[in-house]
Amino acid sequence: MALSTLKFHILTFGCQMNEHDSFRMAEILRACGYEDAQSLDEADLILINTCSVRKNPENKVYSMLGTLRRLKDSDRDIIIGVAGCVAQQEGERILQREKCVDLVFGPDHYFRLPEMLERVKHGERVLETAWSEPSSKSRVDNFIPEEWLEAGHLDGCKAYVSIMKGCNNFCSFCIVPHTRGRETCRPLESILKEVEALVHRGAKEIWLLGQNVNSYRANEVDFYTLLDTISSQEGVVRVRFTSSHPKDWDEKLTTLVATRRSICNQLHLPLQSGSDRILDLMNRRHTFAQYFSIINDLKTHIPTIELSTDIIVGFPTEKEEDFQATLRALEEIRFSSVFSFKYSPRPGTRAAAMSDDVPRSVKEERLQRLIELQEKINREHMDSLVGTVQEVLIDSCHKKNPNVLNGRTGGYRPVKLSGSGLKIGDRVSVRITGYRNHWLEGVVV
Ligand code: SAH
Ligand code: SF4
Ligand code: F3S
Repeated sequence: MALSTLKFHILTFGCQMNEHDSFRMAEILRACGYEDAQSLDEADLILINTCSVRKNPENKVYSMLGTLRRLKDSDRDIIIGVAGCVAQQEGERILQREKCVDLVFGPDHYFRLPEMLERVKHGERVLETAWSEPSSKSRVDNFIPEEWLEAGHLDGCKAYVSIMKGCNNFCSFCIVPHTRGRETCRPLESILKEVEALVHRGAKEIWLLGQNVNSYRANEVDFYTLLDTISSQEGVVRVRFTSSHPKDWDEKLTTLVATRRSICNQLHLPLQSGSDRILDLMNRRHTFAQYFSIINDLKTHIPTIELSTDIIVGFPTEKEEDFQATLRALEEIRFSSVFSFKYSPRPGTRAAAMSDDVPRSVKEERLQRLIELQEKINREHMDSLVGTVQEVLIDSCHKKNPNVLNGRTGGYRPVKLSGSGLKIGDRVSVRITGYRNHWLEGVVV
C-alpha cells in the first residue's frame, strides 16, 4: 500500500505535555503523508500516548491494548505503538506482555517516528527508551526539530509552547523524573522563533509548558527573563504557564505577574498537603508557612488573582490531623480550583518503599470531604464574580449559533456569552450575569 493512503489515530492520556507531544506526532505523521483517521476502525497506525502518574491511567493503557489486540486479530494489518510515560517506564515489558504491539518509545524519541515506522515495516519490533544526556544536542533539539518549527501547536487562538522538560525534583511520590528524565531547558531564541511563528498564524494566548517551568534556566536566561521577554512580544495578548513549583517562586515573579498586563492573573501552584510533616516526607522542600507567604504576597499585589493547586490525600502515614491541615489550607487560601488525587504508589519512587498504610476507604472519604469543601468555596467565588466586569478572550463559538460564544477570563474561568459581530481571538469586556455549574454567563459591555 502506498504510504500516502495510510491513516493514523492517536489516543492521548495524561497531562498537557502529552497532549502537546501527541499534537507534534500528528504533525510529523501528516508530513510523512499519513491522513487523520476518523475512527479507530479506519486507522492503519494507532498510537497510545500514555501516562503513568497514578496506577489508574496506567491500567487504562493495558485495557486499551486488549481492545486493540482484538482489532488487530480481526485480520487487519495495523501498526500499534505505545508512546509516553508508561512506554518509558515499562519498555520491554510491554512488548513481552502484548504481542500486538509493534513499537514502544519514550517521550524523548517521538521525533524519530518516520524512521521507527520504517523499521516496523521491515518486520522489526522497535523499542526506543534510552536517555541522552540533558545537555546533549539531540535532547535539546528534539523539543521541536528546526524543520517543524513552523508547525507549532495552535488550537483556535491558544498556542502551547514547550520550554523545558524533565524534572530534577524527585518528590518522593512522583514518577515523572523517571519517565521524563532530567531537566532540559530549551534556548530562548528557539522558543521565541516558535512564538513568533505562532503569533503570525493567529495565536493570541501563549501557554508555556514544562514540568517545573519556574526552574527554567538556559544559557544564563532564567524564567523571569523568559516570561518578561515572551509577555512583551508584539501580538502576544495573553500568557499562561504551567506548572510552577513553590520552592522556585520568588517576589520578582510576583511583581512581573502583577504589572505585566499580558500575563494572566492566574497561577497553578501545587501544594500537595497542608501538613509540614507530610510535605517533608514528600520531599517538597518547603513548609506550609513558606507557601502561604507566597500566596499572601500574590494576593496583596494582585487582589483578583485566581489560584489553583494539586492535592494528594492519603500519602503514607497521613493522619486525620494532617488531613485537617490540608482542609484548613483550602479554607485559608480559597483556591479557585483544586485537582485532588488519592495517593497511588509508583514503582521506583521513594514513597513506594514506605508502607501505603492509609486504607482505601479512608483515602476515598478524605477525597470526598475535600471535594465538598472545595465545591462550597468555588460557589462562593462564583457568587462574588456575579456583577463584575471581566476581560474575556473568545476561544470558540456555538456550532449552530455564531452569536453564542465561549471564552475564558484572565483567571481561566469559562464564560458563555452572547453578542454579535464577535469572533474567536477577540478580547472583550463582559459583565457577569450569573453562572451554571462551573460556567459563568455574561453579556458584552
Ligand atoms: N510537575 C507538576 C506535577 C506533575 S504530576 C508539579 O510539580 O506540580 C501532577 C500531579 O499529580 C501532582 O501535582 C500530584 O498532585 C499528582 N501526583 C503525582 N504523583 C502522584 C501519585 N503517586 N499519587 C497520586 N497523585 C500523584
Ligand atoms: Fe513530580 Fe515533583 Fe517533579 Fe512535579 S516537581 S514533576 S511532582 S517530581
Ligand atoms: Fe502523566 Fe507523564 Fe504527564 S506521567 S502526568 S503524562 S509527565
